[in-house]
Amino acid sequence: MTRNPRPPGAEELGEAELGVKPSFWKKPFALWVVFGALVYSALAFLALEATFGFFDPALTVFALIFLVSGILTLRGNRWAILAGTAVSILFIGSFAPILAGTFVNPANPAFWLAVSAIPAFGLVVVFGVLSLVHWKKGIERKPYLASPRSAGGLLTLAVVGFVIGGLVIGNFAAISINKLLLGGGAEADIQIVRDAALPGTAQPFSPATFTVRVGDSVTWFNADVMEHTVTSDAGTPVAFDSPLLNSGDTFSFTFTQAGTYAYHCAPHPTMTGTIIVNP
Ligand code: CO
Repeated sequence: MTRNPRPPGAEELGEAELGVKPSFWKKPFALWVVFGALVYSALAFLALEATFGFFDPALTVFALIFLVSGILTLRGNRWAILAGTAVSILFIGSFAPILAGTFVNPANPAFWLAVSAIPAFGLVVVFGVLSLVHWKKGIERKPYLASPRSAGGLLTLAVVGFVIGGLVIGNFAAISINKLLLGGGAEADIQIVRDAALPGTAQPFSPATFTVRVGDSVTWFNADVMEHTVTSDAGTPVAFDSPLLNSGDTFSFTFTQAGTYAYHCAPHPTMTGTIIVNP
């Protein structure tokens, strides 16, 4: 028993067998996975912008590319799969620090997005690359790309299960983290307050102005559910720059020179504060 050879010139997927155009729903499983993951990610990014009322040009462009390449993928366009896979890798690369900080903090309001979008991009890369590799011979001939009843289906199911489990556990973890943040940082000098990055927050760093003597150290505590930095403004003296501080993180700096030090948060320049160091 041998299969019918592909008729010459059958470029489109699914036309291999008997030259019959299959129904829309008979698309190879791999194309459904790439389509679903890309369209989900696109809609999730747009939903995030709508929920928090901000507009990020880069994020929006990525979302639109994901949306278009996802839809064209389901129509069997090889270039769309290539674009969707490449842009997914590019996105993970360029947003890695933000994604990583959000992924490890269930209290972050964008946790749901990080815990679902990162695995979704993983599926895009795996199924996208394998589809491109086997494209010439026909991906409908590889069971794990053609059908959900395969290793490919199991992998997808495992990833979806991971995401659902992550969301459920993350929800409980967020409750605990929020409780701890409320009572945390009592020994710190300056609190990065809840919702510090929101425009309505009068004192993102509290107190906004803090006075010490030369030789004293100052400690900041991040009581917010988002990541922030403590970064001295450009100019002299340029003194300190913390890494991204996640919820519950502290940062300390010892002042050895008198002066007035204005500082801000690197990702949120509207967050500002001042340290006065007296001799
Ligand atoms: Co900030």
